[in-house]
Amino acid sequence: MKSNVSPLQSARASYKPKLPQVLAGNLAKVAVKLGKPTRSISDQQAIQKLFLQTYGQAEVSFVTGKGSSSMKSPLKVAVVLSGGQAPGGHNVVAGIFDGLKKLNKKNTLTGYLGGPSGLVENKKIEITEKLLLAYRNTGGFDIIGSGRTKLETHEQFETVHKNLRSVGITALVVVGGDDSNTNAAVLGEYFKAHHIPIQVVGCPKTIDGDLKNEQIEVSFGFDTATKVYSELAGNVGRDCLSAKKYWHFIKVMGRSASHIALEVALKARPNLCLISEEVAAEQWTLAQITERVAKVVADRATNKKNYGVLLIPEGLLEFIPEIKKLISELNDLLAHHPEFEHMQSADHKVAFVKENLGEESKTAFKSLPHSIQVQLLADRDPHGNVQVAKIETEKLLIETVEHQLKHWKREGKYHGKFSGQAHYFGYEGRCADPSNFDADYCYSLGFTASYLLAAGLTGYLSSVRDLLKPASQWKAGGVPLTMMMNLERRHGKNKPVIQKALVDLKGKPFKAFAAKRRQWALGDDYASPGPIQFWGPASVADAVPETLRLERGK
Ligand code: FBP
Repeated sequence: MKSNVSPLQSARASYKPKLPQVLAGNLAKVAVKLGKPTRSISDQQAIQKLFLQTYGQAEVSFVTGKGSSSMKSPLKVAVVLSGGQAPGGHNVVAGIFDGLKKLNKKNTLTGYLGGPSGLVENKKIEITEKLLLAYRNTGGFDIIGSGRTKLETHEQFETVHKNLRSVGITALVVVGGDDSNTNAAVLGEYFKAHHIPIQVVGCPKTIDGDLKNEQIEVSFGFDTATKVYSELAGNVGRDCLSAKKYWHFIKVMGRSASHIALEVALKARPNLCLISEEVAAEQWTLAQITERVAKVVADRATNKKNYGVLLIPEGLLEFIPEIKKLISELNDLLAHHPEFEHMQSADHKVAFVKENLGEESKTAFKSLPHSIQVQLLADRDPHGNVQVAKIETEKLLIETVEHQLKHWKREGKYHGKFSGQAHYFGYEGRCADPSNFDADYCYSLGFTASYLLAAGLTGYLSSVRDLLKPASQWKAGGVPLTMMMNLERRHGKNKPVIQKALVDLKGKPFKAFAAKRRQWALGDDYASPGPIQFWGPASVADAVPETLRLERGK
């Protein structure tokens, strides 16, 4: 055993991920079934024009039948991991590798290092059985690393083409979220339009859970990451009950959508959970959100409960209308004033911004605590935009709620004690060893990707469905990437992108939460989901995400 391998990892290494029966069985009996031609979810004409080669392809499924002999010709495949880490990435790589080897022992897999930039910089490594041994069923993306470089320009595409062809690679698997798979679709289209014989296939990854739709039931990594956060949130709930002295404000990852917060709420039953999509729909201001939270704190205090748990989705601020406007104005303002970068002190920056914002945004900016004003102006991304995800919303809300409570105290409306503890659960869950669900799902997604390539397809996303059933009954196939696209405004231009899934306020998961939240607000209903179990009863070890169960269950 390597010294850095824990006894648990060592025992877990021998886990054999499950596959849909059609892929687990005899290769000679795997047939490719084509569905009807497809259309994009909207903006059909515009998207068809942009994807003349790959638009409209049929959905594909692998079924038991008479196999195709073309599926056996040797393939040289590349894989790249893109974006934030998500548990199970190593099993995707293992699935692609094992699928390729099952198809033909001569097939090879090359991993490009550090994310999409590895394709441009030609940094690569050969994936071998020996290398994979240390990574099967482990968390992380460290086998080849990941990165956030976007492949968008023709120069990049040509460099990738040259690098892949120089070693005879004819297919690429992009493991990523909505943006990475959008780029994969554009790259696949480019190759086809230029008669470059390189296929491109994607795999749906992101802990955020926002790459899902009719065809993709869930993105990989969501299950494990939310299980980790739920365990932690459950533990915090028990701590509340034991100490009875803190209000815990917990921000959970999920840059845009609130799927993670909702899943954790359903599992751990906090007193409060904010859902960004509801905030946007109801047009709540920061002051209204503060008041809603403070009201629950005050109501609990009248029952002598000066403790509680609040969940906050990471993307919350961008869903609050006045803050959204403020951020967009700030981005514009700072882009037009290069002198801002050279201002030495944070106080100068704050004063400059206060002077130059429009009236409405000025009021919104002034309403924020000084520490948050400074954070808003400190971190900017490579495009110069404010990095909202880095703002400590959990601390912001502790401050605004405390302020509100003091005000009520002065008015004699509140008599409790408020002591806030801020938490941020994010990186803690992204590289956890994958749950059984993610270990099986990822392996199946990778295996399916290799079969899609062997079937000669390009411009597809690997898809494994019917996930509420036992893995042997899962259905494997491919969904044309263009099918999930619509046009969206990005940097002032209409761009074809895979649509991000936000929490559906009419969907069953949100409704299940809404039906319980009054009870959870005042009660002490904290659940203890506990740590991920790899062995034991299926109801525990093979549990699927609660949101998936509610969405897809009968
Ligand atoms: P992906 O969308 O690339 O999967 O990443 C999502 C995420 O985990 C967010 O929840 C989080 O805001 C972000 O990554 C953090 O990114 P970084 O690793 O660059 O700090």
